Amino acid sequence: MQPSPSPVPPVEARVSLRTLNTFGLPATAVRLVRVRSEADVRRIVDHPQLGLMPKLVLGGGSNLVFTQDVEDLVIKVEVPGLRVLREDERGWVIEAGAGESWHGLVAWSLQQGIPGLENLALIPGTVGATPVQNIGAYGVELKDRFESLDVVDLVTGRTVTLDAVACAFGYRDSVFKRHLLGKAVITRVRLRCPKPWQPVLGYLDLERKMAEHQNPTPDAQTVFDWVCAIRRAKLPDPAVIGNAGSFFKNPVVSMEQCRDIIGRDPEVVHYPLPDGSVKLAAGWLIDACGWKGKSIGGAGVYEKQALVLVNRGGATGGEVVTLAKAIEESVYGRFGIRLEAEPVVV
Ligand code: EPU
Repeated sequence: MQPSPSPVPPVEARVSLRTLNTFGLPATAVRLVRVRSEADVRRIVDHPQLGLMPKLVLGGGSNLVFTQDVEDLVIKVEVPGLRVLREDERGWVIEAGAGESWHGLVAWSLQQGIPGLENLALIPGTVGATPVQNIGAYGVELKDRFESLDVVDLVTGRTVTLDAVACAFGYRDSVFKRHLLGKAVITRVRLRCPKPWQPVLGYLDLERKMAEHQNPTPDAQTVFDWVCAIRRAKLPDPAVIGNAGSFFKNPVVSMEQCRDIIGRDPEVVHYPLPDGSVKLAAGWLIDACGWKGKSIGGAGVYEKQALVLVNRGGATGGEVVTLAKAIEESVYGRFGIRLEAEPVVV
């Protein structure tokens, strides 16, 4: 007798999404299904009704603003697993299930004696969300440690492995925000931590820590501790104050545009890029427009970092979007720069 095929994971009806998004915004998923493997995703794709439904892929909910209930089938990615795939003279390759906590992975890798991810400590969200945004902090981006990932195609149900080129990583950008948006579920991510380990300490906040502790040669665990301390000092913990990290990307402008702004605002924080363009600190632009600490309804601008919008309690997604639009307008009015939001509005 043929073994009967494994069933589709259960479909849960009317699930509150409030605890499933780091902003803590109220919304309900009309139907939600949790997947723990590639096979689970495939069963959904192959299902006569579920397969045809539009789908929303949800990881840790760290990059979403819910403004309404979700009619699409919500696929909550809970693929587990952390392992060292191989180690050779060039370094280590580790693999994590997309449902693992990103910060948990960073801490675990250091416990295994594998340095390389420490600058990316304490970024909220799950492993599966990190390539979508190409997360970055303190001089390291995910793409700098990326080996490959597995995705399940939401049309064919097939699992495909993608390398960095196929992921088309850019600054807080990838193919998953563009033509693969809503078309694939990331299930596993592999990272390469190279040997010999070289600390990345060029970022101003880390230079300050080196001076403060009179330690010019910190080990990876020390860098991890410093990054955690820096982040805790200026970024809100989503478990306490709902937020989605930086709400806007740092805008990139031409040298002429930057000179024009410096002419009027000599203090503007800016970083020249290798291609001759200049990246501006969006947090500084927003701060300069007087937004720090301001609110619209329950949505506010964080007191210690104007780039972060927060839920002061009871905020709706609509209030977050209204606040974001008002900030965009005032930054455009004063500096002629259009800010681009990082999170996806649903
Ligand atoms: N600044 C202000 N006022 C503010 C905020 C910032 O004047 O309210 C100034 C700061 O003084 C600093 C500059 O702007 O000179 C840059 O600020 P910060 O060092 O905090 O970094 P950021 O550019 O605002 C980016 C990332 C963060 C990442 C940090 C550290 C983006 C969109 N954000 O922020 O990423 O942690 O650098 O590398 O690139 C995230 O994406 O969620 C995130 C937190």
